[in-house]
Amino acid sequence: MNYPFWDIPILGSGWVIGIIAIFHVMISQFAVGGGLYLPLAERKAMRMPEGPLRDAWLTQLAVYSKFFLILTAVFGTVSGVGIWFAIGLTHPEATSTLIHNFVFGWAMEWVFFLVELTTIAVYYTTWGKIDPKLHLKVGWVYAGASAFTLIIINGILTFMLTPGDTWLAVAGTGHEASKFWYAFFNPTYWPSLFLRTCVCCALAGIWALITASRIDGDKQPELKTSLVKWSVKWLVPSFVATPFILIWYLWMVPASQRALLSLGIDTIGSGTFSVITRIALLIIITSATIVGVAYFLAYRNPRDFNLSHAIALLLLALMATGAGEYSREMLRKPYVIGRWMFSNGVRVPYVARINQEGYLAHSMWVWNDYDESHAKHLEILVSPEQERQWSSYASQPSYSRGEAIFRGECGSCHTLNGYRPLAKLLAGRDQANIRSFISMLHDYKPDSPYRRFMPPMVGTKQDIDDLTNFLNAQVNPPTPAAQKPMQTAQK
Ligand code: HEC
Repeated sequence: MNYPFWDIPILGSGWVIGIIAIFHVMISQFAVGGGLYLPLAERKAMRMPEGPLRDAWLTQLAVYSKFFLILTAVFGTVSGVGIWFAIGLTHPEATSTLIHNFVFGWAMEWVFFLVELTTIAVYYTTWGKIDPKLHLKVGWVYAGASAFTLIIINGILTFMLTPGDTWLAVAGTGHEASKFWYAFFNPTYWPSLFLRTCVCCALAGIWALITASRIDGDKQPELKTSLVKWSVKWLVPSFVATPFILIWYLWMVPASQRALLSLGIDTIGSGTFSVITRIALLIIITSATIVGVAYFLAYRNPRDFNLSHAIALLLLALMATGAGEYSREMLRKPYVIGRWMFSNGVRVPYVARINQEGYLAHSMWVWNDYDESHAKHLEILVSPEQERQWSSYASQPSYSRGEAIFRGECGSCHTLNGYRPLAKLLAGRDQANIRSFISMLHDYKPDSPYRRFMPPMVGTKQDIDDLTNFLNAQVNPPTPAAQKPMQTAQK
């Protein structure tokens, strides 16, 4: 444990990243799709014969470009910073590894983002003010820059799932960055890029449909029909190609991780781990509904296509995208960086050493001994009355060490009483039973079913005992008087 642990009760740290990330992914994919949509639509309009239809198209596109300006410059920027905030605090080890490998990747990313921001601002403000050909060129630069933000970040995102053998061979030697391009163009790079590009196009099409749905079909039938029909086409690649790309993608994921997908099917009867399976079903059902709505309500009947149809499409697409991102995260378990770093920040090759030396041995962030200075430190935190109670507790450091181990080793995926609550998951077990569960997690035998989604519990025998003590106190709480001083001292 090289970093302090940010404890987020109830929600758990994963969801802090999750919520910001889903929001951010959606916005950036909108932006990338919009980047392509705008110049292509503008080109189409310019090729139309001069007249009211062409002018109406251009007016509509100017409205879109305002949306994409605000989307990128405000929401894209803020949520991007939010992601750094969240991953830095909740996954400091993994963030550090990513920065060590990809610092130039991110530098490029930000350059392209800056170009994207600048060009969309110019594009939006110069409608009708500069030569149309030049305006379209600005649009193409905007499209290129936003496409590159995806092309680059995709390398870093897919690296986390499949770092690839070449990078893994140098991992931990200090020369990781020498394999930058191998890490970047890792096994899932291409399928993921195609998949995301499809999603981007679909989202751009859906946004265009939302705006087009508000056009009055009786007053401007021609505009509405042409715009709706053209925008629906943006959904097509997504639904034709996605199943094939998904198969390709899964093909590139190590079999051990793919096993997570079938786990749901294996255990669907007992209901232990059907999340992934349910999510997959959800994606299929929402996608099928989107196809239906897009074809029957939009393509066949463009003049009557209204805002609620369009919003239904958007919500369905958001559900499918969110579910897709969630299952990608699940697929990565128990690693944050495939085969190299477990979700709790423990590096795979360090397991043996930690088992020998103890999980807390090298941590600066926990009190290993309840010595004088520690007691003094506490004086400023607790009242004399509480301190009196504390002293009886302090004679049992095991509980507190157990809590530190819980936070460090289990806290990235479990909370005590909220999301994936250990108090509930362990309910009904007594101390001996909890201990044997943790020992089993510690031994991590090749046939252990938990290997597919949980990292091993690492540490010494003492660590196992301490974690058992702590968890047992949650599941089978001691008398309230014994718990109170602990809670106060935590603040
Ligand atoms: C990589 C994320 C991750 C980490 C880290 C993790 N777990 Fe889990 N754990 C899971 C998932 C996912 C499940 C399945 C939850 C479900 O079935 O809803 C689970 C299930 C469990 C269960 C229920 C098992 C059962 O058979 O019902 C227990 C108990 C548990 N974990 C304990 C722990 C302990 C103790 C630690 C820390 C040493 C830990 N976990 C670390 C992801 C993790």
